[in-house]
Amino acid sequence: MEIKITKTQTPGQKPDQSNLGFGKIFTDHMFEMEYTEGIGWHDAKIVPVHNLSLHPACMVFHYGQEMFEGLKAYRGKDGKVRLFRPDMNAKRTNNTNDRLCIPNIPVEDFVEAVKAVVKVDEDWIPTADGTSLYIRPFIIATDEFLGVAPSKTYKFMIILSPSGAYYASGLAPVGIWIEDEYVRAVKGGIGFAKTGGNYAASLAAQVKAHDDGYSQVLWLDGVERKYIEEVGAMNIFFKIDGKIVTPELNGSILPGVTRDSVIQLCKKMGLPVEERKISAEELIAAQKAGKLEECFGSGTAAVISPVGKLRYKDDVMLINNNEIGPVSQKLYDTITGIQWGKIEDDMGWTVEVK
Ligand code: COI
Repeated sequence: MEIKITKTQTPGQKPDQSNLGFGKIFTDHMFEMEYTEGIGWHDAKIVPVHNLSLHPACMVFHYGQEMFEGLKAYRGKDGKVRLFRPDMNAKRTNNTNDRLCIPNIPVEDFVEAVKAVVKVDEDWIPTADGTSLYIRPFIIATDEFLGVAPSKTYKFMIILSPSGAYYASGLAPVGIWIEDEYVRAVKGGIGFAKTGGNYAASLAAQVKAHDDGYSQVLWLDGVERKYIEEVGAMNIFFKIDGKIVTPELNGSILPGVTRDSVIQLCKKMGLPVEERKISAEELIAAQKAGKLEECFGSGTAAVISPVGKLRYKDDVMLINNNEIGPVSQKLYDTITGIQWGKIEDDMGWTVEVK
């Protein structure tokens, strides 16, 4: 793939690394590529970050035909820039695209585009502990048409955001609300796809949970409202009686890259891992029996996020005394250690940007 690069004449001011927050600051450049039916993906370029000028009839504004991804670039203490399993994001892009009738992007082109734009803006990768460059690839449908049909034209873009922890609390345990009224997704729907509609559908419950002092919503299955699914910005894990338990991928859960990494690392650490259905009732019973030892979320943005409190209906479960558990800490240290090049990547997960 040929990528035309035009650099900005007015570079922006680099941010104060002690107060980055998540997804609020953007770098100088972006990647863009167009799709036209009959031609395919074309005109790959890196240009100064800019506003888009789109006709108000563009299909993405009306029927939500769009997708997004999330990954990060890390600046190691050795000065090297690493990506974490970017091929997984590329493959997931195409799984999402298949579901939403968006044309596939070759995996190698996706990874090349990410590497190229990160390279151009590598000076924006923060170096303070716990910070990274969040990478947001996304595709929108651009036909100017109000009929409901797949668009014939698309735009693929990548923007970059120097970021700190996803939750303002950092690695401190968060409180999670198990939602028993609204649902996020059902089998056969789009729950496994990384598309804005899933997140729009989550907002009403999130507002309700926030109002009650909880950080995020944990979704139950859309049919029986019984089995645990995912948090929305993360997948969820429990340590019950020495075993790591996480909901199985059933079509309505996002197949997280960090989720897959956690499963592989736990197995390597000798911890038994069960991917299976787990009901909210089972959690309550385990907690009452003193067997719910840890709970944590996993995600690119959140990395590992310990959960110290879970609310389900009238039950509020305190987990590990609202402290970071040893498995959560070990996974956080291992994953971020690999990402920042502090520990050897014997899993072969990192890809250097040169
Ligand atoms: C990520 O972890 O990259 C995500 O996409 C979650 C996002 C909704 C913040």
